[in-house]
Amino acid sequence: MSADMQNIQWFPGHMTKTRRKIQEILPIIDAVAEIVDARIPISSRNPDLLDIIKDKPLMILLNKCDMADPKETAKWIDYYKSLGVSAVPIDCKTGKGIGNFKEMVKTTLADKLEVFKSKGMVGKPLRVMVVGIPNVGKSTFINSIAGKGRVKAENRPGVTRGNQWVTIDKQLELLDTPGVLWPKFEDQTVGERLAFTGAVKDAVLDIELLAVRLIENLKENYPELLIQRYKIEDLEADPYDILCEIGKKRGMMIRGGETDTERAANMLLEEYRNCKIGRISLERVENNA
Ligand code: G4P
Repeated sequence: MSADMQNIQWFPGHMTKTRRKIQEILPIIDAVAEIVDARIPISSRNPDLLDIIKDKPLMILLNKCDMADPKETAKWIDYYKSLGVSAVPIDCKTGKGIGNFKEMVKTTLADKLEVFKSKGMVGKPLRVMVVGIPNVGKSTFINSIAGKGRVKAENRPGVTRGNQWVTIDKQLELLDTPGVLWPKFEDQTVGERLAFTGAVKDAVLDIELLAVRLIENLKENYPELLIQRYKIEDLEADPYDILCEIGKKRGMMIRGGETDTERAANMLLEEYRNCKIGRISLERVENNA
């Protein structure tokens, strides 16, 4: 994990400040849009968020869906819907799904818009707080939805100082996460999955061990992609032996004829993160929700 992620564990009040900042601003927020990584929708969440926002309407944005398995993303969307939570897949790099988000805000907050109307406040913009753990794509999302030249970050007098508001259009204002929402980094599986996706750099875990854990996951869930990319001959082999085979096939040898497994591990993780192996989701509704 990155230095920040490690250091944060020595500071017991790490979520207290963010919790307070969010709770201060909540009364003037109409809804919360939580961005998660579509490949790991559970591990990329903050465990305290629901408790912090209480009954404020929540929308889930499954970001980076360009890298996730579309079948699994569709299942996650259905799952959230079954819980009564609006959810939409988005790809902030190309802007795909952003229009759907705007629609979702209006549908989710239809009652609120009615209240505005009945009080003669037609034209009052909806205020949505965008939250998410570091690297999940909050800045990319806000830039993408605001479009070039339309971002207007403001400090509102009378409201908590330092909060950055972005006016999207006459009907919508966004507020970036006030503070940092950390993932559940004390959970090893969560740490591993965040490391697979590159959300957490320089993993505490040994890089070869991380690659072995990724191979285990791929063997179980995407065996055909693993075979296709690396021409694995025996998928039943031990994951470490598979890592050796991958390195060998790529000519990653060290003196003495052994495979350079560290190089192979780095390559494998890099290829996963760059979507070279395929569109792969590492958390499924049936196993993780
Ligand atoms: P944050 O504000 O939540 O911390 O995240 P940020 O927007 O900085 O995004 C983190 C990384 O994720 C960035 O990559 C960004 O380009 C990438 N990203 C965000 N949304 C998407 C998406 O929908 N699809 C894909 N494929 N990537 C996305 P980076 O490597 O840190 O920067 P860069 O290479 O884009 O410059």
